[in-house]
Amino acid sequence: MSAKILDGNALAATVRERLALRAKALSAQGVTPALAVILVGGDPASAVYVRNKVAACEKTGVRSLKFDYAEDTAQATVLAKIAELNADDNVHGILVQLPLPRHFDADLVLEAISPTKDVDGFHAENVGALAQGKPRFIPCTPYGVMEMLKSENVPLKGAEVVIVGRSNIVGKPMALLLLAQSATVTICHSQSRDLAFHTRRADILVAAVGRAKMITGDMIKPGATVIDVGINRQVDGPNAGKLCGDVDFESAKNVAGLITPVPGGVGPMTITMLLANTLEAAERDLAARQKG
Ligand code: GUN
Repeated sequence: MSAKILDGNALAATVRERLALRAKALSAQGVTPALAVILVGGDPASAVYVRNKVAACEKTGVRSLKFDYAEDTAQATVLAKIAELNADDNVHGILVQLPLPRHFDADLVLEAISPTKDVDGFHAENVGALAQGKPRFIPCTPYGVMEMLKSENVPLKGAEVVIVGRSNIVGKPMALLLLAQSATVTICHSQSRDLAFHTRRADILVAAVGRAKMITGDMIKPGATVIDVGINRQVDGPNAGKLCGDVDFESAKNVAGLITPVPGGVGPMTITMLLANTLEAAERDLAARQKG
């Protein structure tokens, strides 16, 4: 049996068509939705992600403002820029690309972003709102995964879901979103005993650890839905330099029922949901101003 491949590029294109219409409707009302992206340092992967985010904005009718800072920039400089963007009525979303250089206190920087412009959903206030089941902004990657599952009508109620990875960006918010849909959720991590015991029980397996091909076909329940959030660059072998996921696609596709590829799976949907959150922020801002 060979799994159905869930094409993230195709789904992203469909969703972005709808988002472009929302951007157009805002523009017609005198509001150009705008996202500010802050990048500190020269991490090559971050530079690529930011470039892709900015390009997606332009294509969808969202204005993007990009602020590039050198690795040795003082934290106070970035905090001052965030304060300026918070106060700017023409900016609806603010994103600080992670990871930040080591001399930064990432939590402090994320908390400096106005919660109403926090399109990543990383501010403690927004994390709390999500945990209480009243989300304001849903973090983009898990939001994208939920849209992918919805697009394929994957049943969530009562489903056994295993998430490998407990990050604030993916694992934890992913668990909260699936829990809100009445799935039975297990989160595994580097200290979990017998990882395969858990993964083999999963109707839906979400891999978000950042370790190339660590989930192999023998760890997957036949027919399962496998969502691969990992983006790793292969260091050796015939595919050195190419991207791969946390799932060993070649062995997994013979066991899974539905699987996301890397690249072309979750990645395009992450960026799409960033656009969705930015439009949401702009629409809320407009509605508030029309009311008040
Ligand atoms: N670094 C890796 N993923 C993300 C993300 O979703 N948002 C931000 N800001 N940084 C990241």
